[in-house]
Amino acid sequence: MRVLAVASEAVPFVKTGGLADVVGALPAALAREGVAVTTLLPGYPAVLDALAGAEEVARFADLPGGPARLLRGQAGGLAVAALDAPALFDRPGNPYLGPDGADWPDNGIRFAALGAAAARLAAEGGFAALHAHDWQAGLAGAYLRHAGNRLPVLFTLHNLAFQGHFPAALFPHLGLPDAAFALAGVEFHGGVGFLKAGLWYADAITTVSPTYAAEITTPEGGMGLDGLLAGRAGVLHGILNGIDTTAWDPATDRHLAARFDAADPAPRAANRAALGRALGIAADPPRPLFGFVGRLTWQKGVDLILDALPALLATGGSLALLGSGEAGLEARARAAAAAHPGRVGVAIGYDERIARLIYAGADGVLVPSRFEPCGLAQLCALRYGAVPVVARLGGLADTVVDANPMALQAGWGTGLQFSPPTAGMLAAALRRAAALFADAGTWRRLQRNAMATDVSWTRSAAQYAALLSALARG
Ligand code: ADP
Ligand code: GLC
Repeated sequence: MRVLAVASEAVPFVKTGGLADVVGALPAALAREGVAVTTLLPGYPAVLDALAGAEEVARFADLPGGPARLLRGQAGGLAVAALDAPALFDRPGNPYLGPDGADWPDNGIRFAALGAAAARLAAEGGFAALHAHDWQAGLAGAYLRHAGNRLPVLFTLHNLAFQGHFPAALFPHLGLPDAAFALAGVEFHGGVGFLKAGLWYADAITTVSPTYAAEITTPEGGMGLDGLLAGRAGVLHGILNGIDTTAWDPATDRHLAARFDAADPAPRAANRAALGRALGIAADPPRPLFGFVGRLTWQKGVDLILDALPALLATGGSLALLGSGEAGLEARARAAAAAHPGRVGVAIGYDERIARLIYAGADGVLVPSRFEPCGLAQLCALRYGAVPVVARLGGLADTVVDANPMALQAGWGTGLQFSPPTAGMLAAALRRAAALFADAGTWRRLQRNAMATDVSWTRSAAQYAALLSALARG
């Protein structure tokens, strides 16, 4: 079965978050299930460079934003189709933001063009289904349906916080019939809702964990789309993300100071020391060493970590924090490092090596998110033997087994969960983690369980494949 995927980012070309990891890794896992995926991406410089020498397979004279051409080739382990539209996508760096850090003013047109191209290619390219990811691909289904095409559409929602909402003035530039600007269409609160359209036109919707799938149908978790999502609950599925366990393998990872596996995690100590050197944490960092990797935003609960810092330090532990994002949180994190030299190490920015050293060297990894559709940080932590300390919600609830006394007695437990996501509850979880850490045998057990967790794509790819075949059968 051949499927056209469409998304705005993919590893190894462009990544701002876990969406890129998923779009980059799922095709190889689906191939093992007999599904051949072609991935349509915007022709950013990084994509076109990787596709050098690729074949031009189509020209579009009338896409939103002007003429464009379609290139197809193999790159980065993916069968890629690239939308070459220099006026829209010949911009290096972050795919959504200009050099001033603000959204590009023409993002509506840019990603309308992506959706329109996806619909054309899906209709003409002999595909059995179209798989669209997140708001940037949200209009693909609308273009397909309004062209009278019934090809099945699967829409995967990675984060309800990013909805792609634009003023009504965009609508006349989209090339959709007037009838599409309706409640039963792309209209959302008087404007154009790309995510809303994606959810509306899809034959099936998936999101990236079963718990998030339930949360988003409630007013508390639905971010204004709970009504629509509850109405579509019959076609809404939660399928957990995995990670590429070849790219994320502590036994072969070249970024590490020392490689290791579940049978012998002792070399983690060398990674802990390297991490300490990189971030200015004391040699053989005070333990337990807790790490954080992620976007510095309200979603990720970074402020909760900073608020709970006194409790963390009171356990005798230390903190290694890596990320970038909101200026206020970056400043607070830097100030914490300055106030606690040798105990708190902070790196602001995107750094693959330090991220991997944190997973491979920290004793615990903190994921105190206020909401988390799936989360990949805790999956990387499990794989690399850093015990995750997570908020009990979204995909975090589905992927970490809390080491409560009953679980411990039964030999279970892969991490710690706390709820609700407040600094007080995080502080309590940190104290509980430190107490477990003090018992070397118990911690070793937790670490072994964590590393034995199946975080691969295998099971989830089979679920996607089953869903896609069911859609293709009609
Ligand atoms: P998001 O909500 O940002 O998509 P995920 O947990 O799904 O969160 O995915 C984030 C991915 O990006 C993880 O693989 C994480 O290791 C990586 N990551 C996040 N921030 C950084 C950073 N500053 N440097 C390196 N890797 C990062
Ligand atoms: C989003 C979510 C994250 C998820 C990722 C990939 O960015 O915030 O929880 O893991 O998408 O699906």
